[in-house]
Amino acid sequence: MITLAVETSCDETSAAVLDDEKVLSNIISSQLFHTKYGGVVPEVASREHLKKIVEITDAALLKAGVTLNEIGLLCATSEPGLIGALLVGSNFTKSMAIALDRPFISVNHIQAHLYSNFLAGQRIEFPFLGLIVSGGHTLLILVEDFFRHKILGSTIDDAAGEAFDKTAKLMGIEYPGGKTIDENSRKGNKYFHKFPEAQLKDNEFDFSFSGIKTSVMYYLKKIEFEKNRSDELVNNICASFQEAMVNSLFSKALKASAKFNVKIISVSGGVSANSGLREKFNTLEAKGYRIYFPPFEYSTDNAAMIGLTGFYKHKYVYNNKNNNFDSLKLNAKPRLDYENF
Ligand code: KG4
Ligand code: ZN
Repeated sequence: MITLAVETSCDETSAAVLDDEKVLSNIISSQLFHTKYGGVVPEVASREHLKKIVEITDAALLKAGVTLNEIGLLCATSEPGLIGALLVGSNFTKSMAIALDRPFISVNHIQAHLYSNFLAGQRIEFPFLGLIVSGGHTLLILVEDFFRHKILGSTIDDAAGEAFDKTAKLMGIEYPGGKTIDENSRKGNKYFHKFPEAQLKDNEFDFSFSGIKTSVMYYLKKIEFEKNRSDELVNNICASFQEAMVNSLFSKALKASAKFNVKIISVSGGVSANSGLREKFNTLEAKGYRIYFPPFEYSTDNAAMIGLTGFYKHKYVYNNKNNNFDSLKLNAKPRLDYENF
């Protein structure tokens, strides 16, 4: 089965072609110009998707060596994300589905991050724990089988990536600052300063990151950061902040692992590219855990994960039935539907 998938939920225009689970092409165009605004401007993002979508899709088909007639399934991200951006990709792909008379699958972007760990031939045994850490969401879930997800916890304020980006901004690091914090951390001392991790009483598996971010803000004021700024200081603060973030994510995952007696953990989403996070979780391998991270190219937003998730949904939820489902009538949704995840 040849699948064509499109992703436009935020600031990446991406198209991918898969042959069953094998990625034949995965073209990603990132809208780097948002940097100058300090964040993604939704309307500008939508317009840029509109400009790029045909060219990126053509490039994906060309690289895969696949013609339109060979496509058996069309998939696009339809939730959650920036509504205008989602509409560009999902309506474009639905139109192709109508024109080619092929089934269309609408894909949940967060589920796609979860299944991104099945790309590149990785197979994860069920049940496993899924920790999804992206720019907009942070979820800890028990994955019992394909599309049988039980949400154990989520963030009550900032998402993990959001906390990285906002903290980076406090230090004058360009948006999106997560990757730069990671790079700086490698040159810094993670024990330089201890930033407090939140302790939540209501649900032990929920996350909170705005406290860590705020304590960085107060700390910067206290040490008169702007006056005393040096590369060494920035690297040390980045490393200390990252340490607090990593420990907070790690301790929740460990707690859930003990409670549900599951020693297989999958970490995915943009923040899963973080070297400190990878290092910390990988120490568990020596203790009999199995730890999965996606290959770096599939950590951040890409259409390959949308294609694979659509392919799985078609196979396991719709049992490979060749109709259009109701998806063509379904609208894109900006918010994550926690009840029906
Ligand atoms: O999953 P993603 O590509 O987009 C969303 O669905 O939101 O995640 C983007 C987020 C951004 O917040 C970015 O700063 C963060 O992932 N990120 C990182 C790293 N690479 C990307 N955060 C920490 N360390 C990294 N190496
Ligand atoms: Zn994402």
